[in-house]
Amino acid sequence: MKHLISLVMLSLLTITLTFAQEESSSFYATMALIDAEELQKEYPNEITIIAKRRNEAAVLISEEGSHKLHGRVLVHGPGFIYKSSESQAKQALLNDNKSAAQSKMAFTITEDAIVNLAMDAINTQNIANHITELENYGTRYHTSSAGAQSAQDLKVKWETMATTFNRSDVSVRLVNHTSTPMPSVVMTIQGSEFPDEFVIVGGHLDSTSSQGNNDAPGADDDASGIATITEATRALFEIGFQPKRTIEIMAYAAEEVGLRGSAEIAADYRANNVNVVAVGQFDMTNYNGSVNDVYFISDNTDTSLNAFFKQLMDYYNASGDHQLTYSTALCNYGCSDHASWNSQGYKASFPFEASFSQYNPNIHTRNDTFSISGTAEHATKFAKLCSEFLIEVAKNDATLSTPEFEAEGYYIYTNNKTLTYQIAETSSKVESIDIYDMNGRKILQKEDIGTSGTIIMNSISSGVYVITLALKDQRQLSKKIILK
Ligand code: BES
Ligand code: ZN
Repeated sequence: MKHLISLVMLSLLTITLTFAQEESSSFYATMALIDAEELQKEYPNEITIIAKRRNEAAVLISEEGSHKLHGRVLVHGPGFIYKSSESQAKQALLNDNKSAAQSKMAFTITEDAIVNLAMDAINTQNIANHITELENYGTRYHTSSAGAQSAQDLKVKWETMATTFNRSDVSVRLVNHTSTPMPSVVMTIQGSEFPDEFVIVGGHLDSTSSQGNNDAPGADDDASGIATITEATRALFEIGFQPKRTIEIMAYAAEEVGLRGSAEIAADYRANNVNVVAVGQFDMTNYNGSVNDVYFISDNTDTSLNAFFKQLMDYYNASGDHQLTYSTALCNYGCSDHASWNSQGYKASFPFEASFSQYNPNIHTRNDTFSISGTAEHATKFAKLCSEFLIEVAKNDATLSTPEFEAEGYYIYTNNKTLTYQIAETSSKVESIDIYDMNGRKILQKEDIGTSGTIIMNSISSGVYVITLALKDQRQLSKKIILK
């Protein structure tokens, strides 16, 4: 037994030493050529430029050199993208224009009613709670045990969310990496019609701090993004949305040390020729620093997907309860995980919290806490945008569409055993929704239904039923429904 314990301790020690060693040694990366050249002038021992192309450089850089870069980069943060080998670094310089490798899917806006339901279902308090939950790890630095724990816990949180809404089409996995001990977390919602076409949204789970990596709350960067995509997904579950395309929700590991988790995942998807039709990145969503609500990062992103995101906002957020404004901004280099997807030739967009130079000044410090904003109002806007994007790209698989009802302003459909309804303001109010079996027996009656909501019908067996809306103006609208 003693031997076993010391064996375990020895292997733990070896693992720790391996990563400690990695932290203090040199690694390959790509970065802006101008930064590489400046750094080489000032610290010739800390960096070697091994290749150049246009305004980018492949380099071998020491850990010390990367910290120097972090301190002096004109834009923000460290400003390099980690590469696992010299050939990977060189290859990356050639890879920057792989776009259009994927299917030429047309992005369309057709899911009006369900998108509005989803936006109504987004809950600001859930986002606030989740940001606080993540901040409370103290650090989620990629080599810390708290960082790894946060990934394990997020997997459980997402699994619980799926079971709460009876989703047998959802699974969650940890993705282990070679360039970091921290795993990424991936939730998959299986597409019903085109399971091989993937729609992805992600953010990074790790955090960092220039004041010491055991004090890195990372509330805005990027607990906010993780909370945003989680709440958007929960809202989709709440309204019974079932995608035709496969959706994946990703919490990437080790973004702060050179996009390591997302780089491995995107490379793996490319190597397996996975058909990813679009990727949305949510990194920093809760600091309201500028006049507009959302800023689309225009470099290292896809122009056509950016245009679609803007169309979504023109359509869904131009006026009314969910009104939002947007503009564009630049990162000037691959500043977040969207760049990993972009460099593999996938279409990616990155809606960001503020304009260039007006983003949260507390990121990468011990002061990146939820108290800076105090509410999750800003992140709520991004959760709405995230749900618009997921629904319109993946599309809803309604087993029943009811054009007659819709013409009158009554939107009602069933997915598995969830019935979802929405009633236009201008339509006559509904006194009750009644469901009859084929023998004419009333088996369910729901009153006080308000203007939107869902009815879970797990107790009703599969089959054909008649659904009736009893209207305040004394009329009845009826329709056959099939419960699967
Ligand atoms: N959330 C930031 C990216 C960011 C910061 C975008 C400010 C826009 C404005 C991200 O986590 C980060 O810090 N990225 C690094 C680069 C990465 C390749 C290590 C950065 O920006 O320096
Ligand atoms: Zn960051």
